[in-house]
Amino acid sequence: MKIARTPKELKEILKVNTGSVGFVPTMGALHHGHLSLIEESVRKNDITVVSIFVNPTQFLEGEDLDKYPSKFEADEKICSLAGVDVLFYPQVKDMYEDDEIKISAPNIRGCILEGYVRPGHFDGVLTVVMKLLNMVSPTKAYFGKKDAQQLALIMQMVKNFCMDVEIVALETIRESDGLAMSSRNVYLNKNERVEALKISKSLKVATKLVMQKKLTTELIKKEMFQTLEPLDIEYVAIVSRAFIPLNEVEIGNTIILVAAKLGSTRLIDNLWL
Ligand code: PAF
Repeated sequence: MKIARTPKELKEILKVNTGSVGFVPTMGALHHGHLSLIEESVRKNDITVVSIFVNPTQFLEGEDLDKYPSKFEADEKICSLAGVDVLFYPQVKDMYEDDEIKISAPNIRGCILEGYVRPGHFDGVLTVVMKLLNMVSPTKAYFGKKDAQQLALIMQMVKNFCMDVEIVALETIRESDGLAMSSRNVYLNKNERVEALKISKSLKVATKLVMQKKLTTELIKKEMFQTLEPLDIEYVAIVSRAFIPLNEVEIGNTIILVAAKLGSTRLIDNLWL
């Protein structure tokens, strides 16, 4: 596995490649969720590039940028064992300069839910993903469904800017007790870790109601809130794949999303129906 520390080094390494390129952008602290994306990329492409870059522009003032888990040695080993060909590990100064042109998230889809709670977050995500996609020029780029709104906005960016890449969305990977894997789970203390299970439980409650043909979103949200209490719930939303709020679950076109805080740790999870 080659390690590129600057965009120039990355370009140099990739210029000899003529086959398909799979790309998995990450912020490091890799877990099984990332690994599932990497493994799929390795299976489906001639070479796989993984980036590790804790992107400062997607963190709001007061968020966890400074304490975001950093485990480069472990991440390097995981990538190497998984068959990654190139690990891209740039520094902020090589990714950004002063007074840049920025990509903005769309006014409606980009400013609800995560975009409402974390204003500006998606501008930072889209800007860095645009840069990374341009640097790697992948055939396919892999993202998890856990960040459903991020995924939808990246797909929209690729469409709106006519970018030549296929975005592949893969299922959320969970711990054996149901908690969705996240690099931020390490922040949870013992009690918060137990309480966090209410999030996946609330989605199981929603699944059960839908299986009983109880499709009214108000009813589903009410029961989910009851399961989630007394967590600090930021939102429970039931939207279409295009992120338009729904009155009734439409099978094949619905995402149920939850965001809640456990102490100072924000967790998100969702269910695609
Ligand atoms: O999902 C993430 O880890 C990040 O938002 C991403 C896509 C790597 C951009 O920094």
